Amino acid sequence: MFSGWRPHLGQQAFLASGAPVRVLACGRRWGKTEVIAAEIARALLGDAPREVLLVAPSQEQAMLGFERALEFLHRVGAHPTVRRTPAPTLTLGKGKLWARSAARGGMLLRGRKAHLIIVDEAAYVPEQVVHEVLTPMLADTGGKLALVSTPRGKNYFYRLYQQGQDDGVHIWSLRSPSWHNPLLSPTVLQMQASLMTQRQFQIEYGAQFLDAAGQVFRTEWVDRALLLHLQPEGLTVAGVDWARSHDYTALAILHGSREGATLLDIRRWQGLSWTEQVEVVARRIQMYAATRVLCDRTGVGDPLLEALQTAGVPHAEGVAFTQAFKQSLIENLTLMLEGARLQLLPDPDLLHELYHFEATPTARGARLQAAQGVHDDLVIALALAAWTLPRAAHSAVRTSGAQRTP
Ligand SMILES: Nc1ncnc2c1ncn2[C@@H]1O[C@H](COP(=O)(O)OP(=O)(O)OP(=O)(O)O)[C@@H](O)[C@H]1O
Ligand SMILES: [Mg+2]
Repeated sequence: MFSGWRPHLGQQAFLASGAPVRVLACGRRWGKTEVIAAEIARALLGDAPREVLLVAPSQEQAMLGFERALEFLHRVGAHPTVRRTPAPTLTLGKGKLWARSAARGGMLLRGRKAHLIIVDEAAYVPEQVVHEVLTPMLADTGGKLALVSTPRGKNYFYRLYQQGQDDGVHIWSLRSPSWHNPLLSPTVLQMQASLMTQRQFQIEYGAQFLDAAGQVFRTEWVDRALLLHLQPEGLTVAGVDWARSHDYTALAILHGSREGATLLDIRRWQGLSWTEQVEVVARRIQMYAATRVLCDRTGVGDPLLEALQTAGVPHAEGVAFTQAFKQSLIENLTLMLEGARLQLLPDPDLLHELYHFEATPTARGARLQAAQGVHDDLVIALALAAWTLPRAAHSAVRTSGAQRTP
């Protein structure tokens, strides 16, 4: 198809299917982005006018597929017009490709039409974006949809996969573990297996749709939290988890109370000096004017907290983690998600961390943490922020002392 490029068997099957909807569930390093890029290039090189849309959970992920598709086009001597800012767009004759992030509910996509829509890491894109934004874009053109991803529990991606297994005509589906990619070295696979829990390896490399066992935050709660439209009253608060050695520094900003809250911002940074970490965190907290700030001071002690207080967040407080405190912290977050009292953002890193956060039974209760090889910095920052929320919206506006009951 493209000189020198040979799709492996799974990739061939995906490319050969003419079904209107294709669902491809496979392990990491399987060659998902590669086959997506090949499919896009093939569509753009065809004779018919082609509006192709590549969607991914984040802009960085969308950009990966975009650049890979461009490489395929260059390989066959095509020279499309490329624009990377403000958003990646490529034009080749009558064909056009745009690569977009599904963040913010895919608002920027509404009202357009497309002949082919491909979603990379689809299990990390909210269901609502696929059904309410993307599918209608294909209605006028009779276009095709392809969803490609590593699994994330039994969510909508799993249900479509199942429908494909039952139907096979309108929806084609395939599940294929990473080792079906003959180019993936067995040594790399073995190394990954040794770095992860068995459950995680089964999901990430075995492409299995696993839920429950050991999972603290159920996938359906998390997915529902992405669909909520809360307009809570209360305070704006922040939770901070500082990086230790190879970790990320993570910050979560919430608004509301424990009765109902929305996530305004969540992010993580890696490879920054202590001074830089304090600076970026202080700047964001000031931007949102968070009135309560709670930092994990386990292992990093008071100097960081003092630096943050000096950097313009004088009201920042610190807490040292004990097993019991961590238990309460995670329990509170679990209850808020279970009770549909927390509205989340579709941040792929956060969804990944929530999905892989596990409780392992031990002699002295449960050990709560991310599966080995996965970070939990965002979950901890989120849990700290949720803990810091006022218990009820009205308690947020109480002034000390003279509280009169009506
Ligand atoms: N048919 C192929 N021919 C040559 N190289 C391939 C082929 N398919 C995949 N690869 C290579 O294998 C590696 C993994 O591919 P790719 O990034 O597409 O996988 P992925 O499933 O999207 O991975 P991730 O889970 O990390 O997103 C890349 O280096 C890619 O170039
Ligand atoms: Mg990929």
